[in-house]
Amino acid sequence: MTQNVQIPPAELIHQDELRFLQHFDSGPRPPGWRLTPRAVVQFIVGTGGEKLKLAAGTKAPEGVAQSLAICEKFVGQRELVERCVVTLASERGLLLVGEPGTAKSMLSELLAAAVSGTSALTVQGTAGTTEDQIRYGWNYALLMARGPHPEALVPSPVLTGLRRGAIVRIEEVTRCLPEVQDALISLLSDRRMAIPELDEAVDGEGGTRIEFAAPGFNVIATANLRDRGVSEMSAALKRRFNFEVIAPIADIEREKNLVRSRASASLARVDQSFQLDEAVLEALVTAFRDLRSGRTVEGWSVEKPTTVMSTAECVSVASSIGIQAAYFPSERDVASLIPGYLLGVVLKDDAQDRGRLLAYWDSAVTRRAEGGGRLWKRLLELRSVLEEHHGRST
Ligand SMILES: Nc1ncnc2c1ncn2[C@@H]1O[C@H](COP(=O)(O)OP(=O)(O)O)[C@@H](O)[C@H]1O
Ligand SMILES: [Mg+2]
Repeated sequence: MTQNVQIPPAELIHQDELRFLQHFDSGPRPPGWRLTPRAVVQFIVGTGGEKLKLAAGTKAPEGVAQSLAICEKFVGQRELVERCVVTLASERGLLLVGEPGTAKSMLSELLAAAVSGTSALTVQGTAGTTEDQIRYGWNYALLMARGPHPEALVPSPVLTGLRRGAIVRIEEVTRCLPEVQDALISLLSDRRMAIPELDEAVDGEGGTRIEFAAPGFNVIATANLRDRGVSEMSAALKRRFNFEVIAPIADIEREKNLVRSRASASLARVDQSFQLDEAVLEALVTAFRDLRSGRTVEGWSVEKPTTVMSTAECVSVASSIGIQAAYFPSERDVASLIPGYLLGVVLKDDAQDRGRLLAYWDSAVTRRAEGGGRLWKRLLELRSVLEEHHGRST
C-alpha cells in the first residue's frame, strides 16, 4: 500500500518501528495501549541515531528487526511529548493548540498510531460538522426495512473508538458548532454514549442502549489559534481537556534539517533524481523565520506580514521550487524562483502584506546583499518581481 497512495497513514509508514517498539519495551502499558508510554515518546522524538536492541532472549515474530534506530518525527521538546502521552493515559482529552502549520495534526496522528495502532478514527471539524459525525447515523435502507436495530446503526469514528478502546482525533474542534462541541462534553466526562433509539430490555422494561468506553479510549483534538475559536470554547469543554501549546520550531538548524528532509522526500516521490538546492533552502528558512518572528537572525527588526509563515508552508515552497527547477531546467537560475513563491505565501489575506515583503527586501535583503551574500545579491536584483504591476506570473 505504501507504494500506491500519495500519503499513507503514520501507522503504515512507520510499521517497522512500531512493531519493533512493541517488542523492545515490554514494560507495563496503560490498559488498551499497544506500546508503553516511554516507547510512544521514543517513537515520536526518535533515538537521535542510536540503535535500540531487543533484549537477549526476546521472542519477536519473524520480520521484527533485532535492532533499530527510531527516526525523529516531531521536532520539539521531549517534555511536551511526554505530557501529551501522560494526558492520553489519564481521564482527560488532549487539546493541541497553535498556529497553523506547527504539526498539531501530525503529532496527533503519530500519537494515535503509536497508542492504538490506527490514526484513522478522525473527525474533521468544520462549521458543517453534525452531531451524527460525533455520535452515530443510520443506514436508512436498513432502518426503513427493519426499524432501529444494531446493524442499521452507522457508528461515527468516535463511537468506533469508544467501543474499541482507541484514540479518536478531532481536527479543528473549535470550528464545530457549539452543539457539536457539547456532544463531546458528556462523552469526555461520562465516557459512554447513549443510543436511545435502540431499546434494550432491562428487567422486562424498555431501556436505552448505552455504549461504554473500552479502556484505551481517549480524544485528541486540535485547534488553530488563528481561528480565534479557542477562547470561545465553553468552560465545560475546556475543563475536559489538557491544553498543550505547540510553538514553531525554536532552533534554526533543526528547522533547516526538517525542511531539508521533508522537501527532499517529497521531491524523491516525484522523481528519485530531483535535488534540493542547499543555498535556496538556507535562504528560504531564513526568510520564513525572519518574517514569522519580526526579527532577523542578525537581530534587525522587520515588519511581520499577517500571513502565518509556517514550517509546513516552507516545506511546501522548498518542494515546489525543487520541482519547478527539475521540470524547467536552465530556463532561469533557481534563486529567481524564490521571490514569486514567497509572494504567493505572503499575499493571502491582506494586500498590504506585499508592502511588508518589499520592506523586508529593502531592509534585511539589501543589508545582506551589501554584506556580500551572493544569493542575497541575486535576490535583491529580483526585487521587481514583488512589485504589483509585475504580477505573479513570473
Ligand atoms: N515541529 C515540527 N516537527 C515536524 N514537522 C513539522 C514541525 N512543524 C511543522 N512541520 C511540518 O509541517 C507539517 C505538518 O503540518 P500539520 O500537522 O498539518 O500542521 P497543523 O495541523 O499544526 O496545521 C508536517 O508534515 C511537517 O512537514
Ligand atoms: Mg491541522
